Amino acid sequence: MVSIMDRISQIGFVPVVALHDVKKAVGLARALEAGGIPVIEVTYRTAKASDCIRAIHRECPHMLIGAGTVLTISQVQEAVDGGAMFIVSPGYDEKVVSYCLENRIAVIPGVSSATEIQRAVAEGLKVLKIFPVEPLGGISAINFLAAPFSGIQFLPAGGIVMDNLGQYLANEHVFACGGGFVARTNLIEAEDWAGITDLCNKTVQTILGFTFAHVGVNCGTQEKAYDCMKFFKEAFDQPAVEGRSSIFLGDRQIELMKKPFYGTNGHLGFYTNSVERAIYHLGQRGWDVMKESIRYDSKGGMQSAYLQGEVNGFAVHVVKR
Ligand code: 3PG
Repeated sequence: MVSIMDRISQIGFVPVVALHDVKKAVGLARALEAGGIPVIEVTYRTAKASDCIRAIHRECPHMLIGAGTVLTISQVQEAVDGGAMFIVSPGYDEKVVSYCLENRIAVIPGVSSATEIQRAVAEGLKVLKIFPVEPLGGISAINFLAAPFSGIQFLPAGGIVMDNLGQYLANEHVFACGGGFVARTNLIEAEDWAGITDLCNKTVQTILGFTFAHVGVNCGTQEKAYDCMKFFKEAFDQPAVEGRSSIFLGDRQIELMKKPFYGTNGHLGFYTNSVERAIYHLGQRGWDVMKESIRYDSKGGMQSAYLQGEVNGFAVHVVKR
C-alpha cells in the first residue's frame, strides 16, 4: 500500500485552505477531487477546522485529509479524531512532533532555518515543510538548506502560485508543494466550485508538463532500421544518433526501433516533469501503465513508462524531460 507521504508526493500539490463555514467544506473537497487533487490541508486558522475535517472525512472517502497550522497537541488529537491523516505545522514544535511520532501520526513540521532542520533530523524526520519559502529566498533557500542534510525532502509553502510551481517541483529536494492559490477565500465564499476545479486541472497540467517527445517507428530488424535511417538522411538531411535498441533522427523526434517493440506500428512519446506523478494522475483518469515497462534512472527515479493498450496501433509512453 502507498504511504500517505508517497501519495502526497505523487499528487504533487497540497491545497492549503482556511474554512470559516462547515457547509462549504464538502463542496470544496469535491471540487479539489474533481480537479485531480484529492488532498486538502484544512488549517486551524479558523474555529471551524475540526468540524470541516470531520465533514470531509464523512463525505469524501477518497480524500487525503491533513490538518494545517497545528500548534498544539490538543489540535492534533481533535484533528486525528475527526479523520485527519497528516499534520502540518507552520513552525517546529518539539511537543507536537514528539506526540505525532509516538502515536505514529504522519507529521510535516515547518522549518525555516538550519537549526530547526537539525532538530527535525535528530527526531528522524525526512519530510519538512519549508515556510514561508518565497520570502526565505525560494529555490536558492531550499538548495542552501538541503545541502548539509542528505535525504531531507521539503514541502515548500508560502508564496507558491501557478507561475512558480513548476520551478519548485523540478527541484530535487522538493517532495510536493503547498499553497492556497487554488482555493482562496473569495472562491470558497462564492462556492465557485467549477472555478476551483478549473484551477486544480491547470495545476495538474503544470505539475505534469506534458509535451510531445517523439514518434517511434517499429522497423522490425536492424537492417530495416538502417534502410529507414538512410532514407531520412538522404531525403531530409536528418542526422542520426544510434543507440543500443534504436536510432534517433534529427532533433530526436523520430526514433527508429531496431527490434520488435511495443505497439503494432510503433509508439508515441510524451515528455513529463515527473513520471511518478504522471503515472498517478493518468491512473486517476483511468489509464494505467504496464508495470514491466517502467525504466529507472541511476538515482532510482522513474525514467519512462508505457501505458497499457494502444491508440490506433501506437503504444504511448511518458518519458522524463
Ligand atoms: C501555508 O500555510 O502553507 C500557507 O499559508 C499557504 O501559502 P499561500 O497562502 O502563500 O498560498
